[in-house]
Amino acid sequence: MSKIVVIGSSNIDLIATVKNFPAAGETIIGKSFLQAIGGKGANQAVAAHKLGGDVKFITCLGTDVDGQNTLKYFRETGLDVSSVLLVEETPSGTAIILVNENGENCIVTTPGANHLLLPDYIHKIKDDIAACDMVLLQMEIPYDTIKTVCELAHKQQKTIMLNAAPACRLDKELIKMIDVLVVNETEAETVSSGKIDEIGEKAIIDKLLELGAKTVVLTLGKQGCLLKNEKETYSIPAFCVKALDTTAAGDTFCGALAARLTRGEGWEQALKFATAASAICVSRIGAQPSIPTEKEVNEFLCKIYIA
Ligand code: RIB
Repeated sequence: MSKIVVIGSSNIDLIATVKNFPAAGETIIGKSFLQAIGGKGANQAVAAHKLGGDVKFITCLGTDVDGQNTLKYFRETGLDVSSVLLVEETPSGTAIILVNENGENCIVTTPGANHLLLPDYIHKIKDDIAACDMVLLQMEIPYDTIKTVCELAHKQQKTIMLNAAPACRLDKELIKMIDVLVVNETEAETVSSGKIDEIGEKAIIDKLLELGAKTVVLTLGKQGCLLKNEKETYSIPAFCVKALDTTAAGDTFCGALAARLTRGEGWEQALKFATAASAICVSRIGAQPSIPTEKEVNEFLCKIYIA
């Protein structure tokens, strides 16, 4: 099996479910509270691992209680965390998440140690990049770090999958190194400087391809996802589920896609699997607690196609 190196953030997620989001200056009473391990990097690493990938996760944690508990949890989950960076005197990252009755979320992250994952450290773990087949990145660690990873990985002809989340402008040099760019509508608009309402989804994807990404995957929530590259185009519909919490749906999708592609699956099969994994994720509360196992996704797909 091919190896995936995920380089990205880890957070402690503090999740409150609410009827409606509060207005500025308003105090509201929440319905429930959950504390769990999250962060886009960690979610994608755990998803790829649970969904059949061979994963190494590189992140930066504080030596605080949160950092220690997080590392223990990663080890118990079976993730390879042998290159995790630990820093003193900086707290581990946190995210405050509100989830409303429609399953929509508002997230505020405070990066803490995530912002100390710097280019210098990437040079120290360059052997991990040399030994992998795919690097999977998101935008919750410093931009220069992401660029350094891409430069090293690109030189060695590794597959680079970037999930441009949270939405962020990307420079031309960086986009040209990306093999698989995964974006939702907001992220696609930010990266392409185009408006979906004005030119449509297909034209936005074309803009991203023109900027240099080799393959673009546009995730569309309830509408499924679209993929386009030089040779192929796919439109995969979403599965119909009751959405309780959309947190980490995109992370589960990216982790699943990376896992299936590195196992040699083709685009269509891998996209269907990733779409099913994120459908299960949105039917549960929380980020990592809601990521399904490979067995759960296979059973879900079996039921759908038999029914
Ligand atoms: O994508 C969901 C994640 O975003 C949460 O787990 C939170 O930590 C933020 O990073």
